[in-house]
Amino acid sequence: MHKAPRGTFDILPQEHAYWKHAEEKAVSLCLLYGYQPLSTPIFEDAQLFSRTVGKGTDIIDKEMYVFQDKGGQELALRAEGTAPVCRAYLEHGLFNLAQPVKLYYIGPAFRYERPQAGRYRQHHQFGFEALGEADPVLDAEVIEMAWRFFISLGLSGVSIQLNSIGCKLCRPGYLEVLRRHYSGYTERLCSDCKARLTRKPLRLLDCKQAVCQEIAGTAPKTTDHLCHECRLHFESVRRYLETLGIPFHLNHGLVRGLDYYTRTVFEVEPQEKGGQSSLGGGGRYDDLIETLGGNSTPGVGFAAGLERIVLNLKRESLDIPPLPRPVAFVAYLGQEAKIDALKIASELRKAELAIIMATGDRSLKGQMRHANSLGSTYAVILGKEELSNRNAILRDMASGDQQTVPLTELTRVLKQGQK
Ligand code: HAM
Repeated sequence: MHKAPRGTFDILPQEHAYWKHAEEKAVSLCLLYGYQPLSTPIFEDAQLFSRTVGKGTDIIDKEMYVFQDKGGQELALRAEGTAPVCRAYLEHGLFNLAQPVKLYYIGPAFRYERPQAGRYRQHHQFGFEALGEADPVLDAEVIEMAWRFFISLGLSGVSIQLNSIGCKLCRPGYLEVLRRHYSGYTERLCSDCKARLTRKPLRLLDCKQAVCQEIAGTAPKTTDHLCHECRLHFESVRRYLETLGIPFHLNHGLVRGLDYYTRTVFEVEPQEKGGQSSLGGGGRYDDLIETLGGNSTPGVGFAAGLERIVLNLKRESLDIPPLPRPVAFVAYLGQEAKIDALKIASELRKAELAIIMATGDRSLKGQMRHANSLGSTYAVILGKEELSNRNAILRDMASGDQQTVPLTELTRVLKQGQK
């Protein structure tokens, strides 16, 4: 028997109520803030990700699904959404439009990770990106959007972690200071951090190992080593967030696991934290588009993982709008009535009523059981006698009340009774 590949899962119909809820909130939020949809391919040139997310990151070195197509081109399944959006921005000359260009996406991303709750090999991201504007007011707006998204979902107790990691001018100086701090502790570091010391020193700050956390706790802070412009930018982001009344926690250990970030970085944590807890993350990436061969173009954005959102909606037992149910189940008694049932069901659907028609030759009792299990509001029962008088029996499935309705009135009555 085949099973879904490890780290992936099917989203069954009853689960889709959660997904629909989250996606609807995402889309209405984006429209509210002037973001437009963009869909990019599920696979890209592998180098798009390695040049931006960065060699030496877990995503590129360990987790990317890379393959050669039959033409010998090296492709990768989409590992994240920001680089493809920037690629599309350049490819379609969106820099010619009024800036910033604001785009959102919802779709799967693939990372070969060790599966556990909230961490999968295929996950789905809702993300939004604002390209072509460096103003810190946009950073604050993006953070406000992320915040409002989780509030609109009904999730309580989410918190925003915020930091600034500087730019290409001030970061090298900071990394030198950081290396100097760690040089006294090399022996105590975990093996990953020993490698990070030379390859990715910034990631030393967010190692989860207890010993490394202790050393990171006394490490110099990025925010104490920002250049003048980065310091002013970060002060403005915080001031704007305070103006908006968006609560945030400064987190000096927050550096994010992708290389393209500059200045503002932030993550959204759920109330109940765990190893794989982050509901979403984002920040500014002012050098990314230049890395891809474009002119220097700032950008800022955010992405949330839908699986983790659904997990938290369930954890908090929140009331989710149920998926729409059929208005009526069309039942028939006998083969002759079946022909009429077919026509009537088709007419009702033309009038935009959601209808399930019976199939097979089950008893009336069996058909009513079926209607009940589908959550149908009504059953339209068609028997020989009713049809000869051009009538149907309309049964309210909740109360069991029945009335005779002329066929010519059926659409109107069902429309009226649609709950
Ligand atoms: P990221 O933090 O790598 O950022 O992923 C964004 C979110 O996707 C995470 O916070 C998490 O909720 C979800 N996620 C990531 N990996 C997995 C996984 N294996 N299983 C389940 N959920 C996962 C980015 O991808 C950036 N592109 C975000 C961004 C947009 N930055 C600027 N704009």
